Amino acid sequence: MYKALDSNGCTVAAKEIDKDHNSRGALREIDNANKQRKLNHENIVKILDVNNEEDEMWMFLEYCDGGDLNTYSRNHFQELKNNQLRVMKETAKGLHFLHKLRIAHRDIKPENILIQTKSGSPQVKLTDFGVSKFHSEDATCSAMHTNLGTHTYKAPEFWNVDQEDGSITYYKNVDVYALGLTYLAILQAK
Ligand SMILES: Nc1ncnc2c1ncn2[C@@H]1O[C@H](COP(=O)(O)OP(=O)(O)O)[C@@H](O)[C@H]1O
Ligand SMILES: [Mg+2]
Repeated sequence: MYKALDSNGCTVAAKEIDKDHNSRGALREIDNANKQRKLNHENIVKILDVNNEEDEMWMFLEYCDGGDLNTYSRNHFQELKNNQLRVMKETAKGLHFLHKLRIAHRDIKPENILIQTKSGSPQVKLTDFGVSKFHSEDATCSAMHTNLGTHTYKAPEFWNVDQEDGSITYYKNVDVYALGLTYLAILQAK
């Protein structure tokens, strides 16, 4: 992640996506959703541009000056304590918005929750859709089977392996489990 300036001199965040990274598919979908103006929400990081070339892919995002939640907690501990409920509520609002669009984030954790302090109080922006799953509107089934995300934030379903074929099945509510663990991290921040 790089801090960069756009042509108007505004600070933006620039993220380089590996050529062979398996998140490219998800990022293309997020780019499409963004272009259709579907991803417009105050608690979702704004995607300013995506530059998708043969061997390089870059995403340009609104820059969040508080960094991610862990960084913010380290640097602005008292502000986080004073705004715990607001931060928790806004994280849930961002996630609810994604779920309404049939997007499972699949990597909810403090490192993927950014803080913007422009307005004076910390505002939450969910980010990192690298392993997100976009379900099409007409999909009858939104079950997922790929084991990914961050180990310590995984819901129990990830360990419920089918005896016959070794598969796992889970739904977007694994994000709610990860949200609960994220809340614990916020409440226990020292
Ligand atoms: N828009 C942004 N503004 C400020 N910091 C950011 C921004 N996007 C990412 N970061 C920082 O970079 C880290 C990694 O970014 P992320 O998009 O989660 O990529 P990764 O795929 O490496 O996890 C975040 O945890 C956060 O600390
Ligand atoms: Mg991340």
